[in-house]
Amino acid sequence: MTTILDGKSLRDKILSELKTKLEKYDKKPTLVVILVGENPASKIYVNNKKKTAESLGINSIVINYPSDVSESELLNKIEELNTNPEVTAILVQLPLPKHINKFNIINAITPSKDVDGFTPENAGKLFIGETPYAYPCTPKGIIKLLEEYNIEISGKHAVIVGRSNIVGKPLSQMLLDKNATVTICHSHTENLSEITKTADILISAVGGKIILENMIKNNAVVIDVGIFKDENGKTRGDVDFEAVASQASYISPVPGGVGPMTIAMLMSNTVELFEKSM
Ligand code: GUN
Repeated sequence: MTTILDGKSLRDKILSELKTKLEKYDKKPTLVVILVGENPASKIYVNNKKKTAESLGINSIVINYPSDVSESELLNKIEELNTNPEVTAILVQLPLPKHINKFNIINAITPSKDVDGFTPENAGKLFIGETPYAYPCTPKGIIKLLEEYNIEISGKHAVIVGRSNIVGKPLSQMLLDKNATVTICHSHTENLSEITKTADILISAVGGKIILENMIKNNAVVIDVGIFKDENGKTRGDVDFEAVASQASYISPVPGGVGPMTIAMLMSNTVELFEKSM
């Protein structure tokens, strides 16, 4: 029997708890999202973030810049937001155009307002086992989803496909903290399927159809972080769901699995930073 990991229901439950929590306060958090350029996927994500924040009574401000904005203009804006006491959370939507050094931009965000947990201070704290101001949203959402379904992490072999700073690397650390044995695979990994077949928990965060039939162990837990449009315009994940689902004990769908959890965790981080700021 395969169980579908329902990220939408869990998102709704978490958002409703956050809404109730915020009703207690006279003040509201303010989340500022910086969006540079016209990346269509980024625009959709940012719009979703804004709509969700507003539904909870969070002040949500999106600042749009053209793709040729200079790095110094972005840095000046971040400095202004860092020092504005009304602003409790700052997010710079990635990817940024190539002429901008993303590290310079991320490093400029004050760690206590870094709602993504991407600054060197927060990433470093995660790495050494100290509590960061915020944990990266997608990995945090994946852990919450596993916990909601009482899926054992301790002692299990977790294989992550993808080594991004947004998902793969922080997730590896968070699973390690929960006593998983962690393997990270990537584009240069040899014999990928030999490794994925040893996973008790397999997480794919690549953005292309890569987890196919016969690449998983029987009864593995499969988490699909990938999301893209296939040649027919259908929204797809990294996992060939039809081929793999029956072999899995638990599997997250796309859409409706990890995506909604990422948004829920962004809201949860926004509320946590707000509470820490008081
Ligand atoms: N682009 C894709 N995912 C993310 C995310 O979690 N945070 C930011 N800032 N940009 C992203």
